[in-house]
Amino acid sequence: MAANLPSSGQPNWSSKPAFILAAVGSAVGLGNLWRFPAEAGANGGAAFVLVYILCVALIGAPLLLAETLIGRHGQRSTITSAALLARQSKASSGWASLAVIGMIANYLILTFYSVVAGWVLYFIWTSGGDVLRTIAAGQPFAGAYSNLTVEQVRQQMPDLFADPVKMSIAHFIFAAATTYVVARGVKGGIEVAAVWMMPAFFILLLGITVYAGVTGDFAAGAAFLFTPDFARAVQPEVLNSALGQAFFSLSLGGGAMVAYGAYASRETNLGQTSGIISAADTSVAIIAGLAIFPIVFSVGLAPDAGPTLMFQTLPAAFHSMPAGALVGLAFFVLALFAALTSSVSLLEISTAYLVERFKMARVMAAGLLGTSFFLIGMVSVLSFNIWADHRPLAMVPGFTNANWFDVFDGVTGRILLPLSGLITAIFIGWVADRKLVNEETGLQSGPLLPIWRFLVAWLCPIAVFLILLFGLFPQLIS
Ligand code: PHE
Repeated sequence: MAANLPSSGQPNWSSKPAFILAAVGSAVGLGNLWRFPAEAGANGGAAFVLVYILCVALIGAPLLLAETLIGRHGQRSTITSAALLARQSKASSGWASLAVIGMIANYLILTFYSVVAGWVLYFIWTSGGDVLRTIAAGQPFAGAYSNLTVEQVRQQMPDLFADPVKMSIAHFIFAAATTYVVARGVKGGIEVAAVWMMPAFFILLLGITVYAGVTGDFAAGAAFLFTPDFARAVQPEVLNSALGQAFFSLSLGGGAMVAYGAYASRETNLGQTSGIISAADTSVAIIAGLAIFPIVFSVGLAPDAGPTLMFQTLPAAFHSMPAGALVGLAFFVLALFAALTSSVSLLEISTAYLVERFKMARVMAAGLLGTSFFLIGMVSVLSFNIWADHRPLAMVPGFTNANWFDVFDGVTGRILLPLSGLITAIFIGWVADRKLVNEETGLQSGPLLPIWRFLVAWLCPIAVFLILLFGLFPQLIS
């Protein structure tokens, strides 16, 4: 290994299942529970699901392998790992810019991800209080918030948005929890959180899906998700949002998977684990859809509520469902587990970099980054109330009507992640030493290696270039 690079004092996962659980923990998050149903609902249901699955299989999973292999090859922070592979391939270390862009993107995602996770915490608080109230009233299986009207239940979300103090407290608690886990280290923090929370997450999710199947309108939910209107599926905005969602949901583009790959052992077959992680993440998204839409349809609500689906439509649906109070609480606890195992991966990237580059103690690095992302996240908190009228990028096409929260979300999701993903695909597909790369994939025998190389070198760059283009210039497709 190049002698002038910082040595690899990297921690490692304690086992291959621990790596898979941590990576699935990063992938499975609010992206699956909040963003996927919202996007599917707004983009025609099954048409979106169909395109999404193709995007994951043909673009997401190959890029996931590309990212984990950069990390595992370098065994260092994302930037140094990318620079190392570039240097060993006799290419410019400027290729590490992919990791610099990614690190910035993921840090910015964390600032607003924590705000949304704060909403989840707030709903745990209100539905927890509601469960206690129903138990005290001797009706533990009552619907959620049965002391309120449906309108009042729906009003909870706008009320929360109007209250910067409540939102900041929730954002603070989540930011502190994320920082705590990362400060405890890879094995002692991130891995422990994933190993406990992910299995609990799966059990809760299956329970809620069964409940939705029994009490909700399962047939309507399944039809909505699985009978595509093919004309809708080829619409550019559906393709565009499905590809963006695949990036976000698989934690791609920002280097989270490079960072986690760096802690994977030499024996781990990355081709295989990338397949497992992609399949698990996609199954969770679809199961979440199968849990959410039957409930939404059974009470006659519209599936296309977008981002408010999880916080406004679902509580309103739980209002009239049997045992809605308990199930509502379970649902938000599940979302919290998923969010926390994702946010730690967002924070780990820059923490590992500070530790490596400045020899900073991990607690110090996580603490500094935690404090600063909390403070920057306050801008997103205020964009729902005090600064609701601010349009920071009013001059930029595509952002004319975006508040601060939308700017953070849009700049990262629509520009920075795809950009860094594009550079990754070109770097791995064309620039990096073929032999070094192929050895890391674990795909040596059979047709998978050439297929993967084709997808990374051709399909990924072209498709990602197109989303970048349409993400930036939506007028081109309208
Ligand atoms: N994949 C996570 C989710 O679905 C979000 C995430 C994005 C995490 C990018 C890490 C990096 O919620």
